[in-house]
Amino acid sequence: PIPEPFRVPLPVPPVKRPVRRDATTDWYEIVQRPAEVEILPGVRTQILGYDGVFPGPTIESRSGRRTVVRHHNRTDVPTVVHLHGGHTPADHDGWPTDLVMPLGGAHQHQSHHPGKITQGKRDYVYPLDQPAATLWYHDHRMDFTGPQVYRGLAGFHLVRDAVEDALPLPAGDREIPLMIADRTFAADGSLSYPAADHAGHTAGTMHDWVEGVLGDVILVNGAPWPELEVVGARYRFRVLNASNARRYRLTLDPPPPEGPQFVQIGSDAGLLAAPVEHGNIDIAPAERFDLVVDFSSYRPGQVVTLRNAFGTGDTRQVMRFRVTDRARDESAVPARLAEVTPLVPPEDAPRREFAFTRGVVGDRPGWVINGKPFDPERVDATPRLGDIEIWTFFTDLHHPIHVHLSPFQVLSRNGRSPGDLDGGWKDTVDLRPAEAVEVAIRFTGYRGRFLLHCHNLEHEDIAMMSTFETK
Ligand code: C2O
Ligand code: CU
Repeated sequence: PIPEPFRVPLPVPPVKRPVRRDATTDWYEIVQRPAEVEILPGVRTQILGYDGVFPGPTIESRSGRRTVVRHHNRTDVPTVVHLHGGHTPADHDGWPTDLVMPLGGAHQHQSHHPGKITQGKRDYVYPLDQPAATLWYHDHRMDFTGPQVYRGLAGFHLVRDAVEDALPLPAGDREIPLMIADRTFAADGSLSYPAADHAGHTAGTMHDWVEGVLGDVILVNGAPWPELEVVGARYRFRVLNASNARRYRLTLDPPPPEGPQFVQIGSDAGLLAAPVEHGNIDIAPAERFDLVVDFSSYRPGQVVTLRNAFGTGDTRQVMRFRVTDRARDESAVPARLAEVTPLVPPEDAPRREFAFTRGVVGDRPGWVINGKPFDPERVDATPRLGDIEIWTFFTDLHHPIHVHLSPFQVLSRNGRSPGDLDGGWKDTVDLRPAEAVEVAIRFTGYRGRFLLHCHNLEHEDIAMMSTFETK
């Protein structure tokens, strides 16, 4: 069913409280479990949620303080948690075969691949020695990330620091994370993921969805086309595209009578050096844009729709703002935000190339990198810690490319300077048809095996993923 848009108020995910804190560390406990929730008005929907909610609870960490999250698996499937954007040691990064088996579940573990299997629960340890940024956590089980995120296993994890604290940005109830995700609901209200195999033994989707699963309902923070009442003041929106496969071009309708639509203050992995004004935001799966919107030039009572110019029909809209009164606003967007040191590769920087294309996986159509499907036992690149490397991503179609462990900076698109949406520290880059994108990347901190993959989750599951090992 397709609900009426703009009938549901925008929910904001609960902020998780630590169970314990000491001088260096905050401890959290999260229970992954099925739950019945109301997403469409008056309809019950079964989800799998962190703490039984979708989005999961938001974790807020301080840069440099260790965060330990104990995840309990009370679901019906093996799970893996990845902190997307985290500068995390390999053992805690959510390797796709390091499964947490469901407690007391009858699930037969089918994988032939080695992994560190734990029963019922495990602790993920995050040093978080990284600047303030909008991270998110989500399931990363090999071959089944698409269906498990679709069922609800995704949440925000914010990192804050003193640099950000010193800025007069909108804060408190004027700082709101927005998780955008599309879903399709069956007639009985259930989430309908077009899996190849509903018993959950084989990876992938039904043939028509190999390019990526698109939903016909747009959810923001788990609510269909919600509405948010805002005062005539600046707001900070941390926008995350948590959709399996959908890209959005966000615009405000009508645009504000004065000033830019969006002022970008941050990208995936932290604040920008200086704010950038945009008339629209193109956002691919897993990307984050930290945006300030100033509602002060709208009339009280006016409604403003956040549209998606890439959508058709109902998916052309995302949510709505209703501007109430003018309000005092002491926030500002300063001209200097944070130190972003450009990564300048030396003349002889190591170069690596990765081609993201259609391919054959087993005996089925799928997705490959440099002609090869993912094999968790194969290492495709061995960068040295501390070196700046140049990686070039080539593509046939749209692929959002994500690198674990360390963020990168975009150097060029098709030989030209990067676009105005490519600025700052990125961990996911929107690769468009026939493009070649060059990025500069320096791995730091941890030796081990990490992933490079397409974040279109259906591409990732059938098997557009590769391993690099930092030495
Ligand atoms: Cu957001 Cu490897 O994932
Ligand atoms: Cu892809």
